[in-house]
Amino acid sequence: MPLDLPRTFRHHVFCCAQQRPPGHPRGSCAAKGAHPLWQRLDHKIQGKGLADVGMALTGCLGFCSAGPLMVVYPEGVWYRPETPEDIDEIVASHLVNDVPVERLVMVLTR
Ligand code: FES
Repeated sequence: MPLDLPRTFRHHVFCCAQQRPPGHPRGSCAAKGAHPLWQRLDHKIQGKGLADVGMALTGCLGFCSAGPLMVVYPEGVWYRPETPEDIDEIVASHLVNDVPVERLVMVLTR
């Protein structure tokens, strides 16, 4: 039976926090510095009072070599931020003003 749930979030952000052991052939987003970026993202979302933006840490999103990775729904926009400033830009542009940051988008090809 389908559930009739309210749409709580305007944006929902999923951030890969996967950690693999050093030397693992796939590497991991955590090994590439994801955690400080996700902490900053969380602080920015909270600090701006974005109650309609959800954030969740996830396991591997499947594209480890491109990490750190995050994806914003409902648009399904994938980002590979590298710096705190990248996070700030994603928050200001995409999460606040609904404008994706094209320079940080990871394009998925068929
Ligand atoms: S470890 Fe992050 S996408 Fe695989």
